[in-house]
Amino acid sequence: MTERVFPDWHNIYREQPVETMPWYFDGLDPDLARDLEAIDLHGGRILDLGTGPGTQAIELAARGFTVVATDLAAAAIEVARARAATRGVVVEFRVDDVLDSTLEGRFDAVIDRGCFHTLPPARRGDYVAMVADRLPPGGHLLLKCFSHLQPGDVGPYRFTAAEIEAVFASALELTLLRETVYHGTLDPLPRALSCVLRRRAA
Ligand SMILES: C[S@@+](CC[C@H](N)C(=O)[O-])C[C@H]1O[C@@H](n2cnc3c(N)ncnc32)[C@H](O)[C@@H]1O
Repeated sequence: MTERVFPDWHNIYREQPVETMPWYFDGLDPDLARDLEAIDLHGGRILDLGTGPGTQAIELAARGFTVVATDLAAAAIEVARARAATRGVVVEFRVDDVLDSTLEGRFDAVIDRGCFHTLPPARRGDYVAMVADRLPPGGHLLLKCFSHLQPGDVGPYRFTAAEIEAVFASALELTLLRETVYHGTLDPLPRALSCVLRRRAA
């Protein structure tokens, strides 16, 4: 089995224009838009984990949501702040590691478009605990990750519906899952899962 190489996120954002990154999508991801409709969430507080260039956080703020958006990479947060200022929207961008988070408070929804599927498998339980702490019972995680239908094993981890269900089962219930693509700059677009998970009552 190929040994997994974890990206150096700091250097990636320092050295590469965000518009060239595989995950860059300048607009609200259509799967995220559909999932927000599915949970009937049209306002409130959203936490965007691993926001990168901040495209989704900015789109959500432009639609009236109150958004906190975090990333491990300070260089990504700098880019995202500048883009929000240019767009004229307010987003609270913070450098924060999802696996060693200093965030507090609760959110109506947490979104993750491509962060979870890059994390070391041994730390997935810590990720689930972090998300569960930020959601009230009934709050939602909207998660986009690579699908098991994406060929190869280079890049992010791939998941089946059963694997997503199992990883989150202790704290969140999988309520909706669609096979889709990861909208970005690659051709063809990678196969992806769009997942809605609901925080269980404590
Ligand atoms: C595939 S990119 C997706 C970026 C963004 N969500 C988007 O849709 O454009 C994954 C992001 O997760 C961030 N990331 C990776 N590990 C992280 C961690 N432990 N804590 C916070 N962010 C992390 C990376 O810096 C990167 O910006």
